[in-house]
Amino acid sequence: MEMETKKKVLSCIQPSGMLTLGNYLGALKNWLNMQEEFDCTFAVADLHAITVRQEPAKLRQQIYSTYALLLALGLDPEKSTLFIQSHVAAHSQLSWLLSCYTQFGEMSRMTQFKDKSAKHADNVNVGLFSYPVLMAADILLYKPDFVPVGADQKQHLEIARDIAERFNGIYGDVFTVPEPYIAKTGARVMSLQDPTKKMSKSDENLNSWVAILDSPDDIMRKFKRAVTDSEARVCIGEEKHGINNLIGIYSAITGKTAEQITAEFEGKGYGDFKLAVGEAVVEELRPIRERYDAIIKDKAALEVLYREGAQKAEYAARKTLAKAMKKVGFVL
Ligand code: TYM
Repeated sequence: MEMETKKKVLSCIQPSGMLTLGNYLGALKNWLNMQEEFDCTFAVADLHAITVRQEPAKLRQQIYSTYALLLALGLDPEKSTLFIQSHVAAHSQLSWLLSCYTQFGEMSRMTQFKDKSAKHADNVNVGLFSYPVLMAADILLYKPDFVPVGADQKQHLEIARDIAERFNGIYGDVFTVPEPYIAKTGARVMSLQDPTKKMSKSDENLNSWVAILDSPDDIMRKFKRAVTDSEARVCIGEEKHGINNLIGIYSAITGKTAEQITAEFEGKGYGDFKLAVGEAVVEELRPIRERYDAIIKDKAALEVLYREGAQKAEYAARKTLAKAMKKVGFVL
């Protein structure tokens, strides 16, 4: 009974390359925190990954790896539904339906589409354009109350809400209109080399981002090289993008406020501060990496879990899909 009264949470992550400290602080850490209190569904969004060209063997490996990482984080398949998006056909099906209730104009305004189409000018495919509709389907199928994401996904979440409201406006109460859940710290982790840009695994400068699975030495090296400023005082400042970012990371991990952090490093240089942030990150990620190394070795056990996860997800997803199809007028 208790399960039914819990509020619902849904989120997904793309299996595109190594996951970063940005993914961890902006999203995954919150997923873990929400696991006890909410009825959670989390997916590896593999369908989204092919909006840019992927090498098949590498993509397959990344899907396994991302699923294993969710387990290594401490997400528990007994408590949460953990699955691979393409295993539940309802995502693609609802996506088509919803695309007929989404305007070309509103998709054209998506900043991520503009950025990505500029970056992959030789492959501006229709999937890249309609990606937010698939994301809306991912969300609306599970009727979540909250969707925990980093700040970069806010616009996509707003469009999902608009689509849900539009559909409900025509056909009655089919979808739950979800609220974004964006944490106060860690929602936008910036590049360590150009802290005016978001930390991203597609950044060619490998010192600009930290992977969740990086070795302690690599993590320390990247933090030691992090770009700062010449003021040499650990405090938030309008032009102190590098230090603001490091304070944000340290705060998201330790739970300390910016004021407490400034007090802690009063009279100390940036060198000390960078070491402290690096060490905090190393210790935060160490147990995850150790668990990951064990989990990824057992593909058979992984398969049992992702198949079971897909079955659970399918049950919920099909119900919502059937309701939406019936409302539109399909024969079921
Ligand atoms: P993706 O795979 O790019 O990122 C996964 C999550 O990590 C967050 N994130 C960050 N947070 C803070 N700082 C950063 N530098 C940073 N980089 C990434 C993202 O905001 C995200 O929460 N379209 C989504 C995946 C998706 C999805 C969904 C999310 C597909 N369907 C349904 C929620 C609900 C994406 O590409 O995230």
